[in-house]
Amino acid sequence: MQSLFSVFDLKTLKIKNRIVFPPVVCFHYCGEDGLVTDRNLIHYQLVAEGGSGIVIIEATAVKQDGRLAPLQLGIWSDAHIPGMQKIASLVKKAGAVSLLQIHHAGLVTHEMVSGRAQGPSVDVNNPRSYQLSASEIADIRDAFISGATRARKAGYDGIELHGAHGYLLNQFASSYFNKRDDEYGGSLAKNLKLATDIIRGIRKACGADFIIGYRLGANAPLLQDGIEIAKHLENAGIDLLHVSHGGSLLNLPRTPKDFEFNWIVYSGTEIKKQVGIPVIVVNEIKTQGRASRLIEHNQADFVAIGRPQLADPNWVNHVKNNEKINPCLSCKPKCRWFEDSGLCPARRAMSNEQ
Ligand SMILES: Cc1cc2nc3c(=O)[nH]c(=O)nc-3n(C[C@H](O)[C@H](O)[C@H](O)COP(=O)(O)O)c2cc1C
Repeated sequence: MQSLFSVFDLKTLKIKNRIVFPPVVCFHYCGEDGLVTDRNLIHYQLVAEGGSGIVIIEATAVKQDGRLAPLQLGIWSDAHIPGMQKIASLVKKAGAVSLLQIHHAGLVTHEMVSGRAQGPSVDVNNPRSYQLSASEIADIRDAFISGATRARKAGYDGIELHGAHGYLLNQFASSYFNKRDDEYGGSLAKNLKLATDIIRGIRKACGADFIIGYRLGANAPLLQDGIEIAKHLENAGIDLLHVSHGGSLLNLPRTPKDFEFNWIVYSGTEIKKQVGIPVIVVNEIKTQGRASRLIEHNQADFVAIGRPQLADPNWVNHVKNNEKINPCLSCKPKCRWFEDSGLCPARRAMSNEQ
């Protein structure tokens, strides 16, 4: 029977266990140039040595004017390659597979980054929103492909396209945001034309062995849509699917009464039943017991453990060696790491003890 520490073969890669460090932005670690700093390196060194089989590097902007925040890592120019090379190399040295999450914020591009928030369609609630023309969409497609090509040059095993959380690829995929009636909207295939063109372009530029992952917003806007999108992306050539939430919180799927996880994990397990590629599930999995059950019952191929690994970067090693874990304190209304990682109370408590 497969377990949390079973090896997984993905193309040419042997992944040492089923635990993923999911992408987690560290907004204040870099400057407006988006270049990797020593702070990023120290962070990823700790993360990589923590023991996850796959480390996904945080949302990294493919275009300067599509950033989620002014201080976000970038991969929009060749100047980003040397710093990214350092991260890829330390992840590899720790024995983990490295994926770079590549990202465009679309309609939620930060106002300090651009006067316009570009998306598939105008968002009536956002006066900065702007509907992209077909040639501007082609520019963004090329920026994703160039970003992936730079990631490959930097030594990453692959990329993850950020198609969740209400960002640009999620906006195109979901009829909740995409109201177009041209080649980029109006049917499932058209809504996914941008993603499909990016996937095919990356495959052509980066080769058969390069891992193309996709983080999917499962409620797009309904789970049934998420399932159809997942099948379409599999046919388009992705290697790995990471199921998270989409931008809208309407019509969320109901989880069966006896299902022990939340609707996001439920969506991942439902999508896994419908596709042949490996699936990562995520969100509030929290404990070793819960993570193990998902793998052992074949409800997922991988589990992503986010905030618990922020609170205790050695979470995976501790689980493996049956050692005490420094628990995430589930800060409300949201994780303090968004503001500044130095504010994480669990991490602060840990360093006070040392
Ligand atoms: C501080 C912080 C930053 C995040 N940054 C990203 C990101 O860059 N890209 C992304 O897809 N998700 C991001 N997420 C979502 C996480 O990858 C993950 O899905 C979420 O934390 C739920 O998993 P968990 O309950 O195991 O923490 C972030 C979450 C947190 C708490």
